[in-house]
Amino acid sequence: MKYYFTTPIYYTNGAPHIGHTYTTIVCDVIRRLKRLEGYEVALTSGADEHGVNVERSAERVGKTPYDFSTVMANEFRMHWEELRIQPDDFVRTSDERHARTVQWMFERCRANGYVYKGSYTGQYCVFDNLYVNEAKPGDPCPECGRPTETVTEENFFFKLSAFQERLLELYESQPDFILPETRRNEVLAFVKGGLQDLSITRTTIKWGIPVPGEAPHVFYVWFDALIAYLTGAGGPDWEQRGLWPADLHMIGKEITRFHAIFWPAFLMAAGLPLPKRIFAHGWLLFEQDKMSKSRGNIVRPRPIAEVCGIDALRYFLLREIVFGQDGSFSYDALVGRYNSDLANGLGNLASRTLSMIHQYRGGAVPDSKGDPHIADALNQTVAAALDGFNKFEFSRALETIWQMISVVDKYIVERAPWKLAKSKDEAAPELLDRTLYSAAEVLRVLCGLLAPVLPDSVAKIWSLLGFAEPVGSLRTADLTFGLLKAGQKIPEVQPVFPRIEAKPAIARMRELEEVERARQDALLGKTPAPAAGAEAPKAEAAAPAASDGTITIDDFVKVDLRVGIVKSAAAVKGADKLLHMYVDIGEPEPRSIVAGIAKAYQPETLVGRKVVIVANLQPRKLRGLDSQGMIVAASLEGGLPVLAGFLEDVPVGARLK
Ligand code: MSP
Repeated sequence: MKYYFTTPIYYTNGAPHIGHTYTTIVCDVIRRLKRLEGYEVALTSGADEHGVNVERSAERVGKTPYDFSTVMANEFRMHWEELRIQPDDFVRTSDERHARTVQWMFERCRANGYVYKGSYTGQYCVFDNLYVNEAKPGDPCPECGRPTETVTEENFFFKLSAFQERLLELYESQPDFILPETRRNEVLAFVKGGLQDLSITRTTIKWGIPVPGEAPHVFYVWFDALIAYLTGAGGPDWEQRGLWPADLHMIGKEITRFHAIFWPAFLMAAGLPLPKRIFAHGWLLFEQDKMSKSRGNIVRPRPIAEVCGIDALRYFLLREIVFGQDGSFSYDALVGRYNSDLANGLGNLASRTLSMIHQYRGGAVPDSKGDPHIADALNQTVAAALDGFNKFEFSRALETIWQMISVVDKYIVERAPWKLAKSKDEAAPELLDRTLYSAAEVLRVLCGLLAPVLPDSVAKIWSLLGFAEPVGSLRTADLTFGLLKAGQKIPEVQPVFPRIEAKPAIARMRELEEVERARQDALLGKTPAPAAGAEAPKAEAAAPAASDGTITIDDFVKVDLRVGIVKSAAAVKGADKLLHMYVDIGEPEPRSIVAGIAKAYQPETLVGRKVVIVANLQPRKLRGLDSQGMIVAASLEGGLPVLAGFLEDVPVGARLK
């Protein structure tokens, strides 16, 4: 059973913010939920790199579009790694494999008679990469309101008009092809209004995938971008991979039209199977306001993760917003939810249950079948929550789970284990066993149910319950009351969700947000970039190499050794020795570094660690990943590498000389 699905591929002329993070977090939750259900899951994300916007942004910072795009694509990748959101593939539209897929699709559409050459004069929105057929010169773009530009081009056209009937049939025969229904209705109305052919190539742009044999034509960015979903499924070799058709494309509502009209039409023209579903979620607002650069109210995920933990953000986004509708983010609401639901709710249930097992039963799960009414309530909760998750009704599912937490809280208070423990009544010991077993068993099952939403914190509760295998190995069949084994040892209790003091936490997030904004602006060339590390002094004249193996100081200073801090680290698929890290060495963007230290270090133990980097080695690719430097380590004969470090604290970016 496979489940292949996708996030949108994000434009590289912007930096990741909480809106992109929202979509990607939701996909990560779905990925873990589907795994819980026993699916083999593959999630593709990626970077949408071509087009005039990226060309212009790159020019502003004096980089080639490819180099600029690489920095920004890494910025997205690094964020997902740091937030431990793990797409299985990350397609860059500048990847060679993607160009091959786009060209192959084009040839198929052309061979089937759906492509012709024509000329277009009309209005174009540079910001949305959209031809606005109905607009007159000077008219604003209907999508974003910015002024359109008049362009005349000889282009290849896609016969979109030929697909009106087939698209309407598709929406009719598969009412859940586009969800939620409001979005479906919009698309239906649009298609019923008639479809015009679509220009799918450009001659005014250089930064794009070339149309084979038709220079200087390059593909229109949306023709290029949508096909990334197929690239992630193997491109021309999709049949061997067995992933296509996609089970789901998760997108934001503003790009519904491209996905629900253009994409199925391209696939029909190429004679390929259609994706099963497009879900267009709502917009995330900041304190009820649209987030925008001009308002300066864009929120980034990193400061939140640093202060409240990534699970707090995941929980907030899924619990607070009815998925599909617009919703609002605010720091106050985030901290409020954290304290009421995570610290007081789940965290409190975990610590009181586990502490009582220590206090009254020597730290071992008592032997009992538990209370039938708790068993029933729990089994019903599991069914209702899974049903909610399956329908992407995250908020409802979580609400159901928290109702169960209240039920157990109340049950514990009514049973009062602290009284039972002292009671002389004959029935008291059995009742105490039953109560403690029931509470612990609810906790076990809720861990399994909540692991997709709160992976880090649930992993902690899980190990506090005494399990050695990861909670991610559970399947839905394990989420039934009564499977917890008597006698299981409970390790020493530790707090899972310490309460957060709202005022200082919010102040800290705002402070970090400023730093993050400045860093991202520097990447985009919007503020002067902080000075990069000092240039190595140039040797006046190269000294001749000595024959005794020594080098001169001039040789040594050529090596740019710098102190860096590991921002994220992850295993490299298919290479058991390699780790992929992003290391901040005091430059505007962290370096992507691949190093052979996986046998010696667990990725999560490296984050935050100061290391030494050779910063001026020629970059190279390892397993398809950019390695822009080398990490310095002692290599021990027959042993594992040991990273170089310092006994005193040294600032990031400092040079070793
Ligand atoms: N590159 C196109 C998508 C091509 S898909 C073949 C694009 N990129 S984007 O960088 O602008 O990202 C848009 C997506 O980011 C949205 O569809 C949505 O998933 C997410 N979001 C960006 N801002 C958002 C909010 N403020 N709120 C919710 N999601 C938003 O469009």
